[in-house]
Parts: sequence; C-alpha cells; structure tokens
Amino acid sequence: MTTVVDQILQHVFDACQGDKSGSVADYIPELADVTPDGFGIALATSDGYVYQVGDTAVPFTIQSISKPFTYGLALADRGETAVAQKIDIEPSGEPFNEISLDPITERPRNPMINAGAITSASLVAGPSPEARFERIRRAYSRYAGRELTFNTAVYESEARTGNRNRAIGYMLRSFDIIESDPEAAVDLYFRQCSIDVTAVDLAMMAATMANNGLNPRTRERALAPALVERVLSVMTTCGMYDGAGDWVARVGMPAKSGVGGGVLAVLPGQMGIAVYSPRLDHHGNSVRGVAACRELSKKLELHFL
Ligand code: DON
Repeated sequence: MTTVVDQILQHVFDACQGDKSGSVADYIPELADVTPDGFGIALATSDGYVYQVGDTAVPFTIQSISKPFTYGLALADRGETAVAQKIDIEPSGEPFNEISLDPITERPRNPMINAGAITSASLVAGPSPEARFERIRRAYSRYAGRELTFNTAVYESEARTGNRNRAIGYMLRSFDIIESDPEAAVDLYFRQCSIDVTAVDLAMMAATMANNGLNPRTRERALAPALVERVLSVMTTCGMYDGAGDWVARVGMPAKSGVGGGVLAVLPGQMGIAVYSPRLDHHGNSVRGVAACRELSKKLELHFL
C-alpha cells in the first residue's frame, strides 16, 4: 500500500533527481569509481518501520558518518569527562581535514572534524588493533541491526594516500592528545571510514539514535540515552562542517555527512533519515543529500530546533 510518507519520499526524490551538480570525491582513488548518479532516500521510524525510494540497497562506505558513532563508543569506554579533556565540542568553521587544534585549549575543536575523530578512535578500548576495530564494527552493526562489512579496497586506497590524516595524527601525538601510536589511531580511523552501509542501514542507524540508542527492530542497546544526547548535540552544531549554520537554519536536525555520498539525519523520538548521492559540494556534503533533507524537512515539518 502506498502511504502518504511514500508519496512524500517519491515527490522529494523526483524534485531532487535532476540536480547533477557537484562531483564525486576523488582524493581517495577508489572513491572516484562510484556511479555518480546513484540516488536513494530511506526513512526509518523510531519504531522500526522503513520507507524507501531509489538506490537504497547500494553499498557505499560510511566515511565521516562513522565519526558520531565512534565518538559514542569512546564516551561509553572512557566516560564523558575523560573524553572532554581530549576533544572539545565547539563548531570549528573549518574544513573537515584542517590540520589545526584550538589555540587556547590545544584540543581538537570537535569530534566531527578529522582531528577530533582520530582522537575518538584512539580512545576506543581493546587489547589489540584488530579487537578495537572489531568493537567499532560491532557497535555500528548494533545501530544498523545487521552485521556490517568492511570494504578492503577503499581502506587500502585511503591507507595509501591518506598522508594529510597522518599529519593530523602526528600533530595530535605531539600535543599528547593521542597518548599512543598515532599510526595505529589513524589506521583505525581509515578502517572505520571503510565500513560499507546502504541508505537503509544509515536510516536504521539514525532511527536507533532517534529511539534513544535502542535499535527499534532488534531491541539491542547501541548507546546509553545520556550519551545519545551528547552525540546528537555535537551533530547539531558540527555535523555538516562549515555548512553547519546553513543546515541548522534550513533543515534543523542533527546530521552527519560523508564523502562516500551519504547523509544521515535524526529527528529525536521520531525517525531517522538517510540519503545516498555521491556528488559532493565544496564542503564535502552530498549535493542531493542536502537538498533532499531540506525538502523532506519542509514537507514533513521536521525542523525541530
Ligand atoms: O578523512 C577522510 O578523508 C575520509 N576518510 C572521511 C572524510 C569524510 O567523509 C568527510 N565528510 N564529508
């Protein structure tokens, strides 16, 4: 049966489909190989019902959308106070891969830029690099409600070319923000970015956030409610990088984008939304992902801030 929500999703899909502006990320060679025209929208309610249109089963790498989830794991492993001593929660107004720390606090400004995200990865507990990555993969899988898998080709491509992130890792080590081997922290970050998801997976991950950290389908807890609140706050102010102000004004939901073409947005207590469309704007946010979220927010009156 076609519901009103299905009709709205189709309408938004049709309205945004023709926009072919932007370009796919190519600074990681393997990312340049995607089909640029892929486009899918998925919406999962906080009781687990999924609506979808377009390419919602196409796998793509999670990239920076991993950042809030690893930050959540670091908070659960180390506690809010210990994490706050390492990573601030202020918007940076800078590109995601800026090689900088706050000059006064000497900490990364927030966990959504690379400096903060590599620090979050360094704080994930586990007896070995393999165990730490497996804890990350399992955590993301709890949000998605299925076993997510690792994309070796994208990981190897980024590991070969990711010298800017290595520079950030060594900067963090020299300021004692990272207290262990910076290469290991950066490698873990590359691995978390290379987990494959679909738009439906991301919508379920967002719905789990919307449901206070409890996956509405599997009933498994992914994160404690107090930590969900913290993660969503940071997504609101920092999730769309230096496009965050415009996003909050026009969409008004906590969100996160990734250079794989995904965008995820959370309406607390109600739903999670995900869009897949690989062409990116100059901030590194999916062009049609941002446009579709704006349209959906307008049509479904989701702006809650
Ligand atoms: O740090 C990087 O370069 C990537 N692996 C992730 C960056 C990313 O997704 C930025 N988001 N829009």
